[in-house]
Amino acid sequence: MAKQKRIYRCSSCSQIHTQWMGKCPQCGEWNTLIEDIVSAGARPSSPERVRKGAPVPLSEVASSPFARRKCGIEELDRVLGGGLVEGSLVLIGGDPGIGKSTIMIQMAYHLSLSGMRILYVSGEESGVQLRMRSERLGAVSEDILVYSEVVLEEIREQIAAIRPDVVIIDSIQSVLSSQIDAPPGSVSQIRESAGMLMEIAKGMNTVVFVVGHVTKEGWIAGPKMLEHMVDTVLYFEGDASGVYRILRAVKNRFGTSGEIGVFEMKSNGLEEVHDPSSIFINGHSGDVSGSSVMATIEGSRSFLVEVQALVSRTSYSMPRRISIGSDQSRLSVLLAVLEKRAGMFLSNSDVVVNVAGGIKINEPAVDLAVVMAIASSALDRPLDRGTVCIGEIGLGGELRPVIHMESRLKEALRMGFTQALVPASNLEKTAPLNGIRTIAVSQVRDALDIFS
Ligand SMILES: Nc1ncnc2c1ncn2[C@@H]1O[C@H](COP(=O)(O)OP(=O)(O)OP(=O)(O)O)[C@@H](O)[C@H]1O
Ligand SMILES: [Mg+2]
Repeated sequence: MAKQKRIYRCSSCSQIHTQWMGKCPQCGEWNTLIEDIVSAGARPSSPERVRKGAPVPLSEVASSPFARRKCGIEELDRVLGGGLVEGSLVLIGGDPGIGKSTIMIQMAYHLSLSGMRILYVSGEESGVQLRMRSERLGAVSEDILVYSEVVLEEIREQIAAIRPDVVIIDSIQSVLSSQIDAPPGSVSQIRESAGMLMEIAKGMNTVVFVVGHVTKEGWIAGPKMLEHMVDTVLYFEGDASGVYRILRAVKNRFGTSGEIGVFEMKSNGLEEVHDPSSIFINGHSGDVSGSSVMATIEGSRSFLVEVQALVSRTSYSMPRRISIGSDQSRLSVLLAVLEKRAGMFLSNSDVVVNVAGGIKINEPAVDLAVVMAIASSALDRPLDRGTVCIGEIGLGGELRPVIHMESRLKEALRMGFTQALVPASNLEKTAPLNGIRTIAVSQVRDALDIFS
């Protein structure tokens, strides 16, 4: 075994130190140093070790399109950028119980139907548990080989012998390399394992899926390092106790990132939701104050989501501001803009904003919908049911243009919406759409006129 030494890596800035300290001298963060064990003189555990040969001019590198195979679950194929890419390493992360193993088994079954062989390496569940889940999901196949093993060197040997088309490792935190003297799930084990799995994927041209747990901080254990090493990172969003699950590509070397797949968790597994608008605005009635609808863009799709707000008199000295599904700090900014630019004072009120359905909206185009939901709740006046609100709000209270306005409006029209509050600057470039009336807004205070 190679000689090993202890190092301390900062999980905030990645700086390496030779001794433990309470505060990282590089970035000044406290309690961020994580013990790591490296093998002195050992092979680097990274994808680099699989790429050999002398440097060649880029123009002479053979180019060939990625060989893709669809798995047949459309929502998953889309998130992967159009299907599975041979020789790729895909990480699928999410909270406990969200459905990582479920989607892997369902995918394995779909792939087996098209004649592929799948090796399911389960370090967490026994074969019996897997069989029981597969029966519940109607996904039992003789082409899915179950292997209960955690030692990576053994797993690699089996992969070399069986030559499966797809390998699923459930999970990265449960496997270990016998070359490293550290427990499974530790930073050094995860790094070594990911390196070895990358070598397997590229070397044997196999698609390798790796399941990873998200830690309390929302990271996959092994601070972001794992995400850098793999080709594609998919995250499950949504509440594990809720019904809907959103699978988001946060990184994809073979397709667009930001693409999402929407699923509903049922007793027989994850069912695809092809029309997300229909579920995200499902509870929107239009006769309750504190609700607005916006058209968002995720990857290549546009769909409607409901933004809810509750404004109530505070009983605290510091009023509470809670944002679920949209940016928390942006909420404070929008409340300050409402106060300064539109004269709506909420400093004595608690404000809660929630994007219905458990989806996270990261784009600023949601600003206007958030502000309209807050104003609707504060004034206790519902917005007209057929209205969508789309627009980013600047610090001066001005409405800023958003991208893809036309496809947002088309989606609103498709879902039966008849009017849209949009930034005036957007309308100069957007062709009018029959069936939907656009109300141009330049300033946030003008948007509030709709309540008068
Ligand atoms: N018998 C059942 N009937 C209906 N739904 C079930 C049943 N058993 C499990 N589920 C659903 O499946 C989910 C568990 O899914 P799964 O085991 O795939 O999650 P996971 O992300 O792999 O979890 P972990 O991180 O613990 O491995 C549960 O939260 C529940 O919603
Ligand atoms: Mg699982």
